Amino acid sequence: MPSPLPVAIIDDDQEMLRVLARFLQKHGIESETYTDPRKAVVAFSEKRFAVVVSDVQMPGMSGHEVLEQVKSLQPGAVVIMITGFGSVRSAVQAMRNGAFDYISKPFDYDEFLTVLQKALQQHALQQEVAELRKSVQNRYAFGNIIGKSVPMQKVFDVIGRIAHTRTNILLVGESGTGKEMIARAIHYAGPRKDAPFIAINCGAIPESLLESELFGHERGAYTGAVTRERGLLVSADTGTMFLDEIGDMPLSMQTKFLRVLEDWEVRPVGGSTVRKIDVRVVSASKTDLSKCVERGTFREDLYYRLNVVTLDLPPLRERAEDMPLLIAHLLRRAAAEQGREAPRVSREAMDAILRFPWPGNVRELEHVIERAIILAEGPEIALRDLPPHVATHAGQAVSASEGYAATTTLEDVEKQHILRVLEHVEWKRALAADTLGINRRTLYRKIQEYGIEEPSP
Ligand SMILES: Nc1ncnc2c1ncn2[C@@H]1O[C@H](COP(=O)(O)OP(=O)(O)OP(=O)(O)O)[C@@H](O)[C@H]1O
Ligand SMILES: [Mg+2]
Repeated sequence: MPSPLPVAIIDDDQEMLRVLARFLQKHGIESETYTDPRKAVVAFSEKRFAVVVSDVQMPGMSGHEVLEQVKSLQPGAVVIMITGFGSVRSAVQAMRNGAFDYISKPFDYDEFLTVLQKALQQHALQQEVAELRKSVQNRYAFGNIIGKSVPMQKVFDVIGRIAHTRTNILLVGESGTGKEMIARAIHYAGPRKDAPFIAINCGAIPESLLESELFGHERGAYTGAVTRERGLLVSADTGTMFLDEIGDMPLSMQTKFLRVLEDWEVRPVGGSTVRKIDVRVVSASKTDLSKCVERGTFREDLYYRLNVVTLDLPPLRERAEDMPLLIAHLLRRAAAEQGREAPRVSREAMDAILRFPWPGNVRELEHVIERAIILAEGPEIALRDLPPHVATHAGQAVSASEGYAATTTLEDVEKQHILRVLEHVEWKRALAADTLGINRRTLYRKIQEYGIEEPSP
């Protein structure tokens, strides 16, 4: 497999090197040969190699030292050791220290070529993984989280300050406000970014399985445990564990999890030994966890452990200033994914998008935009490309500068807006309170105060 980077070969047998280099060139592999390992090391600090092939026993410097130099100067290069008679044991040692393979002298050139090609493949694979990892990191980079509103700027500010710590973080926000996105951004902005980010939805896993999912289990720990599993917490070691819907964690699990946060130790189900772990814990909840504490469904001590820092992610309807940027960003992203140019948005469609209250927040907006791009016929998204429940908002709702006279009182505006939202959600009061961003009690009080009545069917 041809590689854009050359191969370095180090051996004190000059004649062998000359022939080998010519042989490799015939197979399309560029190589640079060195009879003096010290010269090779100088080259390592100047240019990059895909593979380094080094003899073990050489005057001036051993192959082991060469390997060490490669590790620090050429971390991307794959190393093959050439061993003379009797130095196989030392080659095995080299492999323990990170060499990819070894080949014993005397070897024939075809054999050498096979091993080298495998190493080149390994290098290409490593490059690919590194690039993929970078693109994932980019996707969750700060720059892709849109928000110039004051509450979002506050969120960014806190992320910047805590990314380099191990502080436990609690993210609170309605569905679709970006909790998981922020959790990943925290992971990728800090020193754990090359270690795993592991997410679990505590509400989606049956209570009986949650413990072994998190803590792992020994073979035979329970019926069905046919193999040993190390569990997600151990998999997340040195990385980040994201506990989504933490409020749904059963009380029995909460007690066990609290112990992990106190001692950073994990004991698998059915196991007798514990394992130390180092994870950063980010948890998320759609509802205010302190309410669960009041109701007695969430342990208070665990609550205080988890929310050393709490980030409140505001719903979209409370940050209208972010809408234009978000719409542009989502249009660009969705269009790029479909291999198109980002379309414009017609005035009426934009009007409807800006007036709709977006109970599903950014995720809902994202879906509506993706759908609209697919449906749009021309270079513009029209009102008919939006789902009906969004489209009906075009030009009908309140707007400070359009719908009302300058003499309208604030109370009138509030009354009419509450009425409109109630109609929109078909008089489901809980949903209306959510949409309005007020609690239910406040809504009931206002309904009474303003004498708002549901029309009888
Ligand atoms: N500020 C933002 N900028 C850009 N994209 C965002 C932003 N907030 C959310 N998104 C996008 O919206 C979608 C939903 O975000 P995410 O999955 O993080 O929400 P969530 O709070 O975890 O929702 P749920 O509670 O329903 O799981 C994702 O595709 C994410 O990329
Ligand atoms: Mg989520």
